Amino acid sequence: MSHRSCLSVILAAGEGTRMKSAQPKVLHQIAGLPMVAHVVKAAEAAGASGLALVIGHGADEMRKAAAKFAPKAETFEQEKRLGTAHAVIAARAAISKGYDDVLVMFGDTPLIDADALTVARRRLAEGAAVVVIGFRPPNPAGYGRLIEEDGKLTAIREEKDCSEEEKKIGFCNAGMMAVAGAHALKLLDAVGNENAKGEYYLTDIVEIASAQNLDVVATEASFESALGINNRAELAQAEAIWQQRRRHDAMLSGVTLIAPETVFFSHDTEIGADTIVEPNVWFGPGVRIASGAKIHAFSHIEGATIASNCDVGPFARLRPGADLRNKAKVGNFCEVKQAVIEDGAKVNHLTYIGDARVGAGANIGAGTITCNYDGYSKFFTDIGEGAFIGSNSSLVAPVTIGNGGYIASGSVITESVPDDALAFGRARQKTIPGKGKELRERFASAAAAKKKAAGADH
Ligand code: UD1
Ligand code: CA
Repeated sequence: MSHRSCLSVILAAGEGTRMKSAQPKVLHQIAGLPMVAHVVKAAEAAGASGLALVIGHGADEMRKAAAKFAPKAETFEQEKRLGTAHAVIAARAAISKGYDDVLVMFGDTPLIDADALTVARRRLAEGAAVVVIGFRPPNPAGYGRLIEEDGKLTAIREEKDCSEEEKKIGFCNAGMMAVAGAHALKLLDAVGNENAKGEYYLTDIVEIASAQNLDVVATEASFESALGINNRAELAQAEAIWQQRRRHDAMLSGVTLIAPETVFFSHDTEIGADTIVEPNVWFGPGVRIASGAKIHAFSHIEGATIASNCDVGPFARLRPGADLRNKAKVGNFCEVKQAVIEDGAKVNHLTYIGDARVGAGANIGAGTITCNYDGYSKFFTDIGEGAFIGSNSSLVAPVTIGNGGYIASGSVITESVPDDALAFGRARQKTIPGKGKELRERFASAAAAKKKAAGADH
């Protein structure tokens, strides 16, 4: 089939009032990616080389977003929402380029899987002119019903136009269709608007094509892959299904999830085999994990690269630009941002490392802070190989700690430290024998005198 060219027309002009949102419906995200971008991915996975995005409501915002998730897509503005056939025709200029297959998809159906589209395209290759993707929802109310006669699809009837008898049909229109490019515009242009809603229905091309003795068939997809999102409850439902699928894939690819239902992935999370993920872990966008890592409970990770056999958390926060090399360790209550933690380095407890390099094998003591920001600009901290940073130290950037440098606990380091040097950045300790007891006695008698004076006032 790969020799057949394919255009995907994605309808996304609707307002989505039930989302109650200032943002166009299809830009709401599943796994950190706009739902319409999931639709684009499925179209591409099914072999679509052309992409036409039909936009209307929030057109400027849509164009801006599309430039990121589908830079190759052409956008077409449907100025008035006169129905799904009218919307497809808005992309006339793309359709008339002469693709073999035209896939019509909805921007608000993010779980559509590429296989369903591939199956539909195969039917086109076998000679069908129109292939409708059907499904069997638990409750068919509101969906167009597929009317079949002798194994042929003869019509799709919208709920509002259905007879009582037709309403009993459980096989429904998922909305997506594959249409032979050679017939597409001719069929679409023949659609009228004489129906209950006065709209130009895409679904009418079924009746039009069968009246012309063209081959019209229905295929069946899973309920989930046809799930349309209209409100935020359905958005959460789709997110849950997406996460469930992703967790399953992760486990089958060799990742241990101890409590899979508590681990959340992003659309682009990459995670290697033999990684163990403990409960309650969140992966934001841009995370890559090689093999054999351990991600302990309650870690929040985004934009981070984690090499083999690293150990992260519990309660670690890795922010964008965190780059952990082999066997690096970032422990509890540590935050790492825009920093390389080189091979075997340890950042174990209660630490902030930002805009920095931590050299191989270095040990960062509890409570170390890189002071990287003066309220205006960010500065870099460079910590050499095998350095030792004593607990509760502040490294005021820009500053360099040489290889093997040794920082005394509680230091405030404002000047660079050469290789193998020891640096104290704090006052020397003074110990006065007996002075503690003397102080205590003085404070006690002062408190007693105060209490007595207060009593005398009454
Ligand atoms: C459509 C189908 C119905 C099917 C259902 C599945 C038609 C006529 N009906 O109904 O058979 O069971 O989907 O969910 O196709 N859109 C535009 N411009 C328009 C109209 C719609 O871009 O002028 C977009 C919408 O933003 C939406 C999609 O097309 O993404 C579907 O439109 P919608 O009005 O939701 O169709 P349904 O009534 O759900
Ligand atoms: Ca709909």
